Amino acid sequence: MANIQVFPTPAALYHSAAEYWVRTAKRAIERAGTFHIALAGGSTPRALYQLLATEPYAGQIDWRRIHVYFGDERYVPRDHPDSNYRMAREALLDSVAIPPEQILRIQTEFPEPELAADDYAQVLQSHLPEGEIFDLILLGLGADGHTASLFPETPILTVRDRLAAAVYVKKLKAWRISITYPAVEKARQILFLVTGADKAAVVTHVLSPSADKTLPVQHLQAQGEVSWYLDAEAARKWEVT
Ligand code: 6PG
Repeated sequence: MANIQVFPTPAALYHSAAEYWVRTAKRAIERAGTFHIALAGGSTPRALYQLLATEPYAGQIDWRRIHVYFGDERYVPRDHPDSNYRMAREALLDSVAIPPEQILRIQTEFPEPELAADDYAQVLQSHLPEGEIFDLILLGLGADGHTASLFPETPILTVRDRLAAAVYVKKLKAWRISITYPAVEKARQILFLVTGADKAAVVTHVLSPSADKTLPVQHLQAQGEVSWYLDAEAARKWEVT
């Protein structure tokens, strides 16, 4: 069963998430000397990344031991306003001393999204512990129940032989590159960060054991520890069962 925590405000959620990162990174570095984390994209995690770049959190993390990946990326240039890499770079990566070779972004310069995805699958296989295991994956949740870029009714939901794939999202009229179910499911830990009233309906559906399993996030068979950090707005329709 997942660990679910509801916070009174987004700020309280972000501080707890920063403490979670510090704790998890310390444990991984004690165990293996490194911490391999996949960042979530979108707007929710930006405030967490900004917090981690400041005290008291930045000084508690041995950034030289951190290996940063991306759960998904929009198929846009790295400096495009929609780029998850650009968001993370501005909010965190430019402010902390992670060795550049340990920031494994999804290279969207490839001429085709599938080539970018194949390249990233190779990057993950050659950089991750045991070729596939993230210590932590940060994930958001879309109102349609997608996470990373595992969108409803898309072929990526059936990909189980690779750690990353490209997906065309009709409603966005855009290509994405994303980690696939196997990559997420093998992670030691997963932390979902969900804020805002617009996510209240999907949160209730996803966290209700009796709800029908129609949404991509509900099909995750996570092998590791799953935690949900919700603010009061996102949790307001969810009845504690
Ligand atoms: C992305 C994310 C995506 C995001 C959800 C929630 O690239 O957009 O990976 O899965 O986490 O869409 O987005 P918000 O945090 O902006 O609500």
